[in-house]
Amino acid sequence: MYRAIDYRISTRKYKDQKVSNEHFKNIQDIIKDIKPLNKDILMDTIVLRDGEKIINTFKGFTSKYAKVTAPHYIAFTSKIKDNYLENIGYIGEQIVLNLTKLGIGTCWVGSPIDEKTFRQITDVKKDQKYIILIAFGYPERKLEKKENRKRKENKNILSGNIKNELIPIIDSLRKAPSAINSQPWRVHCSENTLNVYIEWKNILTKKLLEKNNHIDIGIGLSHIIIAARQLGYDVEFINKDIQSSKNKKYIITIKIKNVD
Ligand SMILES: Cc1cc2nc3c(=O)[nH]c(=O)nc-3n(C[C@H](O)[C@H](O)[C@H](O)COP(=O)(O)O)c2cc1C
Repeated sequence: MYRAIDYRISTRKYKDQKVSNEHFKNIQDIIKDIKPLNKDILMDTIVLRDGEKIINTFKGFTSKYAKVTAPHYIAFTSKIKDNYLENIGYIGEQIVLNLTKLGIGTCWVGSPIDEKTFRQITDVKKDQKYIILIAFGYPERKLEKKENRKRKENKNILSGNIKNELIPIIDSLRKAPSAINSQPWRVHCSENTLNVYIEWKNILTKKLLEKNNHIDIGIGLSHIIIAARQLGYDVEFINKDIQSSKNKKYIITIKIKNVD
């Protein structure tokens, strides 16, 4: 999955072609093997082969950004518990990177589909709610290694002291997708621990983006963990008692082990 981080982009133009049955089988296997951030949060991954069902729900939306039309979609539902959005981001991005490996294009779509409409098009488990979509299909342009991404520099997302050998982990985080490319993740590094926060510019951006930004953090965490493991480190998630402020919220700490 580490290599796929460089090849993944948000794909918004798809070939007018269905994904093959063999690839659908691969996708089911991928979904079965994904490790959640928190296994105690019940959630469901629903593969919608008939993308039209979702496209029909886009009619009322005002923004063009929220209407990514694709042959197929994956929809996530979840119980509402602490960190459920981070959990969905963490799971979904592993699916995205595995689909990238298969040459399949993806795009997270944060469309606010009405709960009642969503329940009419698919089976939602009891006590779970619709969270977000991932559009997918064969991309119009083959996925290639993406060299230049519009991203914040390390100095804008990183504070504290980081060992040089851990910098590639932060580089992988920077390549992660985020809602309207907001890149809300902030990392404070001391010794071998990374404290991860969400930061909002102001109350307005917090109000507009809060839900999607929690998903972004889960996505970012998956990139951190994939990179750390690829570099040969073990990782441990720790919940510390760190105060949040109005526009900066502490999420989780990652301890990177066996660093020299
Ligand atoms: C939670 C989330 C929601 C997103 N929602 C949309 C969306 O509704 N429409 C869209 O075109 N892109 C959406 N995106 C894709 C972002 O715009 C994209 O990740 C960002 O601009 C960075 O570009 P890249 O993914 O190509 O690296 C979303 C991404 C995330 C993580």
